[in-house]
Amino acid sequence: MIIKVKTSKKTKVLFNFSFRSISKVSRKYNQMILIVDSNVYEYHTQAFDNAGTVIVVNGSEESKTLEKSQEIIEQLLHLGADKNSILIGVGGGVISDLTGFVASIYKRGIPFGFVPTTVLAAVDAAIGGKNGVNTGTIKNTIGTICQPDWLLYDYQFFKSLPREEFANGFAEVIKYGCICDSELFDYLEKYDLEYFVKSPVALQMIIQKCLMIKAKIISKDPNDFSIRKTLNFGHTVGHAIEKDLELKHGYAVSIGMVVASQLSTTKTGLQKDDVTRISKLLQKYELPVTAEAETNAVMALIANDKKKKGESIDFILLQSIGESEIKTISFTDIKKDLKKLLDGSNN
Ligand SMILES: NC(=O)c1ccc[n+]([C@@H]2O[C@H](COP(=O)([O-])OP(=O)(O)OC[C@H]3O[C@@H](n4cnc5c(N)ncnc54)[C@H](O)[C@@H]3O)[C@@H](O)[C@H]2O)c1
Repeated sequence: MIIKVKTSKKTKVLFNFSFRSISKVSRKYNQMILIVDSNVYEYHTQAFDNAGTVIVVNGSEESKTLEKSQEIIEQLLHLGADKNSILIGVGGGVISDLTGFVASIYKRGIPFGFVPTTVLAAVDAAIGGKNGVNTGTIKNTIGTICQPDWLLYDYQFFKSLPREEFANGFAEVIKYGCICDSELFDYLEKYDLEYFVKSPVALQMIIQKCLMIKAKIISKDPNDFSIRKTLNFGHTVGHAIEKDLELKHGYAVSIGMVVASQLSTTKTGLQKDDVTRISKLLQKYELPVTAEAETNAVMALIANDKKKKGESIDFILLQSIGESEIKTISFTDIKKDLKKLLDGSNN
């Protein structure tokens, strides 16, 4: 399948790809360099025999830095990587964000692709061309929007994925249901995390569905000027608490979606029953809906968000389950709802 996006590049997506046949991709380039998550490498070492040059990177948020990018760039120079080389990131969202970033700045851009090995990367991070690294506690401060050349799905890698990483990825799946697909939301309500952990076929179907949803949104707005912003539902608060509380991305977004849903009841007319449905669904998929955090500290982090406009910020809210809108909300209103949700609400 070829997903067309309105950029200079087409992304080739291969579902049911077998990593053993990676040479079918590598033979199109002078050289293939694989940036591989350390846990993936440990669990699937044999898969990388004869696969090409491998650079193993620690699979944690700490790797999403300019320093790590520079380290990889120096290795690429040492390996003689040029414009006809390809970088393939094999791992979760950390590896896809980092690989895409390095590839899009090295020699002003070389071909790159991803083999997503977490549900979160498969349904979200690997799709859409946002690449980047963090600075200090602020996420994705430095980055590019540049579409990958290849997206290769080999579901064998998911066999070693811990259960909480399945939950982590389902936060983004539930997000798609909330912002634009009420049928997906209803479908998810019929099942639970256990079902998708146990059923690779159902998981593949959900991954493909989410890819199509995100690709459709990206093709309308690749550079994040309008509809693409709705993908940030739950991410304003999510990004603020993710690094501060050292939460998994999906866990932080889950809490962020509950805050945004609460705000939606007063700002965009979301029914209170729907907030309850969203919160219940998140918990069914083993995701947190509250956190222990200091409201003022979280507000200070929100103030660093790219979407900030003076004393307010563009927030993604819901009119109903499956319908979202972008609304400018004052920090005072956000703080009120945050206090209700963050434990220790006397702060
Ligand atoms: N660019 C985007 O559009 C976008 C969208 C969403 C999230 N993100 C970014 O993605 C990152 C989060 O991604 P993530 O949740 O995939 O986290 P991650 O990449 O840190 O992976 C989570 C953990 O799972 C391990 N792992 C990965 N694959 C495995 C496998 N198959 N078996 C066993 N262990 C495995 C990793 O080593 C790591 O410990 C965040 O930095 C977030 O900002 C980017």
